[in-house]
Amino acid sequence: MRALREQILRIADSEAAVAIVGESGSGKELAARDLHTHSLRSVHPFIAVNCGAIPEALMESEFFGHRRGAFTGAHEERSGFFQAAHRGTLFLDEVAELPPSMQVKLLRALQERSVRKLGGQREETVDVRIVSATNRDLSDAVRRGEFRQDLYYRLQVIDLRLPPLRERREDIPLLCEAILNRLAGDRRPQLSADAMVRLCAHDFPGNVRELENILERALALVPDQSIEAEDLQFEPALRLSNALGSSAVCSDHGDAALPLCLPAHLRMVERALLRRALRQARFQRAQAAQLLGISLRQLRYRMQRLAIHEYD
Ligand SMILES: Nc1ncnc2c1ncn2[C@@H]1O[C@H](COP(=O)(O)OP(=O)(O)OP(=O)(O)O)[C@@H](O)[C@H]1O
Ligand SMILES: [Mg+2]
Repeated sequence: MRALREQILRIADSEAAVAIVGESGSGKELAARDLHTHSLRSVHPFIAVNCGAIPEALMESEFFGHRRGAFTGAHEERSGFFQAAHRGTLFLDEVAELPPSMQVKLLRALQERSVRKLGGQREETVDVRIVSATNRDLSDAVRRGEFRQDLYYRLQVIDLRLPPLRERREDIPLLCEAILNRLAGDRRPQLSADAMVRLCAHDFPGNVRELENILERALALVPDQSIEAEDLQFEPALRLSNALGSSAVCSDHGDAALPLCLPAHLRMVERALLRRALRQARFQRAQAAQLLGISLRQLRYRMQRLAIHEYD
């Protein structure tokens, strides 16, 4: 992790495009943000775009903006990601998912350093640094004709490879500490020696995100004591597939104790998480709901159902 950190600091100041490659959950987005934070552009925006999540029909307008009346429903002139990221960093996540039509337009924008709003005439100069990420082998996509080679070279000036967690197990203890600290602060429980041994032996097909999930679940079950090996519930091995080769051997550690009663167990987990979110949000319900990715109404309903009162 230290080596990676140093590499990030070394390339942060460069203006060159950085392509981050790594399995799902290996920390690509975190690395991209880190690159931005340590760059000379850090006072300007960091705009993250999930290229796999935007419908193709909307892509051009989302990236480059549109003029009023450019299409039905374009009631107002709007800027796109490029204008929003001006002088900052544009993070193209899941870049392999860009459809061919958009690959051409993106290439043009990068070459010309300017964009034109949909329905507009005027070219606008944009100054962005491109950081892209993918969990697929982009050179392979190029060979298969799915990704333009010229765009590939534009994006791939510097590449930053994030190794899977199982190739850097020595990071696991440090990561556990950082994650527990973030999730539980000063009141974080300790991991028992057995639990640590168990974690260090796991293959983590879902990488750091999986480790995070495991620790979060354990915390929900034992918020105040030490976390024992039995408290670690490993994810079902089949759920996570990684596109980077077949090295992702999923070992099945799914032998953690089953709950005696699933509904009761789920209620307990849910209650612990709701309480934690409320505490973290200093009992501001709206903020707690946001932390949990649910609506305020949903939060109220769940609190009522689980008989949770604000400050208990
Ligand atoms: N070095 C680290 N220290 C602490 N937390 C980390 C570290 N690396 C990754 N994480 C955490 O792991 C989770 C996954 O990281 P991130 O979202 O950056 O991965 P990703 O490679 O973008 O995943 P995906 O391919 O699924 O989008 C995040 O919650 C992140 O905070
Ligand atoms: Mg990501």
